[in-house]
Amino acid sequence: MNTDEFRRLGHQMVDRIADYWEGVEERPVRSQVKPGSIIAALPDQAPENPEGFAEILADYDRILDPGLTNWPHPRFFAYFPANISPPSVLGEILSAGLGQQAMLWETSPAANELEAVTMTWLRKAIGLPDGFEGTIQDSASTATLCALIAMRERALDWSGNPDGLSGKPKPIVYSSAQAHSSIDKAARIAGFGDAGLRHVPVDATFRMIPEALDEMIAEDRAAGHLPAGIVASFGATGVGAIDPIDAVADIAGRHDLFLHVDAAWAGSALVCPEFRPLAAGVEKAHSLVLNPHKWLVTNFDCSALFVRDPQVLRKALSILPAYLVSEGSETGPEYRDWTIPLGRRFRALKLWFALRNYGMEAIRTMIRDHVAWTGELEALIEAEPDFALAAPRVLSLVVFRYTPEGLDPAGLDNEALDTLNDRLIADINSGGFTYLTRTLVDNRVAVRFSIGNLTTEHRHVIEAWEHVRTVAKSLHG
Ligand SMILES: Cc1ncc(COP(=O)(O)O)c(C=O)c1O
Repeated sequence: MNTDEFRRLGHQMVDRIADYWEGVEERPVRSQVKPGSIIAALPDQAPENPEGFAEILADYDRILDPGLTNWPHPRFFAYFPANISPPSVLGEILSAGLGQQAMLWETSPAANELEAVTMTWLRKAIGLPDGFEGTIQDSASTATLCALIAMRERALDWSGNPDGLSGKPKPIVYSSAQAHSSIDKAARIAGFGDAGLRHVPVDATFRMIPEALDEMIAEDRAAGHLPAGIVASFGATGVGAIDPIDAVADIAGRHDLFLHVDAAWAGSALVCPEFRPLAAGVEKAHSLVLNPHKWLVTNFDCSALFVRDPQVLRKALSILPAYLVSEGSETGPEYRDWTIPLGRRFRALKLWFALRNYGMEAIRTMIRDHVAWTGELEALIEAEPDFALAAPRVLSLVVFRYTPEGLDPAGLDNEALDTLNDRLIADINSGGFTYLTRTLVDNRVAVRFSIGNLTTEHRHVIEAWEHVRTVAKSLHG
């Protein structure tokens, strides 16, 4: 493809994206295709000879387009949002076209220094104190893995990397039973194992119980294990649980443990000063992850890891073979030492475009709207005799159960209610009008309704709630 052709097709591609955004509301939210249908429709090996773009795009339209689940849809209320915004997509396109590989300062001073600048902007925007420094990772899962490796090495006095873990006291990490599965995965990869991850019990509002944490740490020490760190959740996935970070941080301080805060989703809300009390004590953490690709107008992937003492992370992850010694490797920031992969994309560009083009005040307004609409939805659910809140609402996540009259939610009808709620979710999602996620609350099936798309307006929330009620009624017909 020569540059003239690229230019012509590139313009078409931007039109295609803009058309998609303009028409997305008319699409089903969740793809309606059957599993395996796309694989079956495509050849099983790459073509030997070049194919024209007209032909490729015709196949895209026919085979792949129906297989899109439409994340930017204004009635996408599943999982947590994975936002896109026009300026961030422009940054993504430019970044891809520039082909920057930011593994060293020298291989892209622009990417590395803009990363430092945007991370400082973001740190100040969420109210983290001076001293914290940030880097952009692909995902919260990677950021948490880095934090766990750092906490392990710190606890082992930096001997795990050179010696391996065998023959050493067993390092232990603590998180609540509500914490995201990325913590379990990181514990496995970082050598804690399932047996080295303690799930601390939660209270009636799904927050980690600090006294239980304290006791577990003392028991582990008494058993000759090596408590290494704690992961506190600021907005866990199931019901949005927010651990009492202040109390947890004090325990971490008393036991000299590393504290990582998983704020992948809710961390974005800290751009609004009124939500910061929910994260009181966060300045005492050693690290915190938040995903601008969730709720901060930046398309996937863009995850910000902040650390109070970058030296701890660097000491745990730094490797400098001869071929990486370069200008800037002494002065930094050399972010390859803050993460797992060597190769790094120019992600700061899309974040910079988005933060500049929206400005923080518009972003705060978006988040405040989402939270206010969720509060309104919560009130509607509470007022509806056939529905019940399954957990306290957190910011823009509300979790409920369908509890029609005649079935006793507290009693013997729980299994029948689980079946009914499963059918409700399945019918809603296969219908395509809106998209919600199933979860378990106290082992009972519940429905998550998570508001966070830039495209969502107040009316979409109301329409989706009305739809939930209609589908619920139809279950009895
Ligand atoms: C609380 C929480 N932590 C971590 C993650 C993992 O995020 P990522 O996909 O960036 O690894 C999620 C994903 O939704 C999450 O909700």
